[in-house]
Amino acid sequence: MEVLIVKNKQEVAEAFSAYFVDLVEGKDSFHVALSGGSTPKIVFDVLAEKFGNSVVWSRIHFYWGDERCVAPDDEQSNYKMTVDHLFSKIEIPQENIHRILGEAEPVGEAMRYANLLEINLDRVEGIPQFDLVILGMGDDGHTASIFPHEINLWQADDQCVVATHPDSGQKRVSITGKVINTAKEVAFLVTGTGKAQKVDEIHNQKAGYEKYPASLVHPDSGRLLWFMDQEAASDL
Ligand code: 6PG
Repeated sequence: MEVLIVKNKQEVAEAFSAYFVDLVEGKDSFHVALSGGSTPKIVFDVLAEKFGNSVVWSRIHFYWGDERCVAPDDEQSNYKMTVDHLFSKIEIPQENIHRILGEAEPVGEAMRYANLLEINLDRVEGIPQFDLVILGMGDDGHTASIFPHEINLWQADDQCVVATHPDSGQKRVSITGKVINTAKEVAFLVTGTGKAQKVDEIHNQKAGYEKYPASLVHPDSGRLLWFMDQEAASDL
């Protein structure tokens, strides 16, 4: 595990963007699962603004680690957030964008998406392998849309599952632990004081840390990077 702690969100965005550009450099194809929520917004803005003309976007295929079960034009849609902050600013072929259909019936969509991953990605022991999975971490220690109250979903046999937000009850489609841990690389983007306690508990393996899904991210490749600002790392 590598941990990079920088001053603020802007520096997290700049550090991750440079890492991402370096990772995709020279690759004929690159399959990345994006995270959702709010942290990626500044990251996508920086990626588009600083590197929009230096990446061969047509070689990159975009997927999501999770999506809210809402329409693609809903303010809560991770896809819409990505369009607003990245896709609307770069030359990306539509066929390179593989969104989870938030408007579809969740169980059927989880099955469809799992099949899509199996078709589009290389497989390792039958598990679709992303070149990179980008993750966030909730204040409660969730990642993707695997929440502590449903941590059993992490080791589901399925590659995609339907999860439920603990507070709102909102349905989500999420990839599961075996897809995440099969990825060649996994990068966490974690910023803000709200994350500090869980970051400390997970990184210092404090009592009960295993109940947080984010603590279960251990890619078989060993390539796990945490990009954090000082606020998120303030309890370390
Ligand atoms: C989502 C996510 C989720 C997110 C964390 C952190 O759909 O919300 O993918 O796992 O990454 O909740 O969200 P913030 O970056 O907004 O804190």
